[in-house]
Amino acid sequence: MAGKTFKIATIPGDGVGLEVVEQGIAVLEEAVKNSDVSLEFAFFPWGSDYYADKGRMMPEDALETLKRFDAIYLGAVGDPRVPDHISLEMLLKIRKGFDQYINLRPVKLLEGVDTPLKLAPGAAVDMVVIRENTEGEYSAMGGRFKQGTPDEVALQIGVFTRKGTERVIRYAFELARKRGRENGRTPLVTNCTKSNALNYSMVLWDEVFDAVASDYPDVNTDKALVDALCMWMVRKPQYFDVIVASNLFGDIITDLGAAIQGGMGVAAGANINPERVYPSMFEPIHGSAPKYKGKYMANPVAAIYAGAMMLEFLGAVEEAKAVMNAVQSVLKEGKVRTYDLGGSSTTKEMGKAVAGRINCKI
Ligand code: IPM
Ligand code: MN
Repeated sequence: MAGKTFKIATIPGDGVGLEVVEQGIAVLEEAVKNSDVSLEFAFFPWGSDYYADKGRMMPEDALETLKRFDAIYLGAVGDPRVPDHISLEMLLKIRKGFDQYINLRPVKLLEGVDTPLKLAPGAAVDMVVIRENTEGEYSAMGGRFKQGTPDEVALQIGVFTRKGTERVIRYAFELARKRGRENGRTPLVTNCTKSNALNYSMVLWDEVFDAVASDYPDVNTDKALVDALCMWMVRKPQYFDVIVASNLFGDIITDLGAAIQGGMGVAAGANINPERVYPSMFEPIHGSAPKYKGKYMANPVAAIYAGAMMLEFLGAVEEAKAVMNAVQSVLKEGKVRTYDLGGSSTTKEMGKAVAGRINCKI
């Protein structure tokens, strides 16, 4: 692509976040080295240390600051010193504030990575979960009443708007179409629902799904209640192509997906504002793993993968491919493996191995 500099806001965050993001950046820099794309990383030391000092996870005007960037590269958030519902507000504020209504999480079993499942011979696991990322069960609306008394009541309200539901489902169909063009298979979108029990929100969700589906006669559709979907993801993961899910269901099934694809160390995600009015955010989907902090044991592949997704989103498609080819080559060879992959290589050794394979052909 024509010479372009992208400004990336990096928030290493908590726990192993810094360790994995460091390797991600080294690999991305290697990937763009001989191209006309350049990356400028700015660091924001926000997170639980910042909280210990300032009583908040990030400055009040954080979103104003981040808005000036082309993308956000996040490590991890979460620390035993800060209650989770407070630390994680930071992540949710960015997702919601920047209307990153698509949470795109590939569940792909890369060659050389073990799955705990016994797959049918030749079965390839290659699906994408599109999770609604700004509303639904995460609306943060509700309250507590008569707190601390035996009569206490807590309300946690799920907010499902027609607009919010439509746009995420439409995105899933568009993505399925694009994947079909690329892999030659008939695209399939699976509707992850629970309309048997959630008789308002998920019934609206299903109605919108059917209406959107009618615009895509070339895309096959399927519907599964989220509980049954969990079972089918384990029993027949090769069946799935694109799954579209609400915020909470998408959260839960992507942890299952991460386990299927070989663990949190290799699972990446993108929080996307498709209109590009705001920057999108890319992150390994694992937690901050506080007990591993500073041990340089965490697998940086998820962070590197998230970095590749960031390059692709920014339009540096060839560079993104080079990163994923390098990841694939190292994993397939299997010589450098972090502990989660059954080896004893360090975070840095893994990052270095991947950086060393940029431009390799597989
Ligand atoms: C995720 C995480 C977050 C979520 C938490 C940390 C708030 O589990 O990104 O999947 O629930 O979205
Ligand atoms: Mn989660």
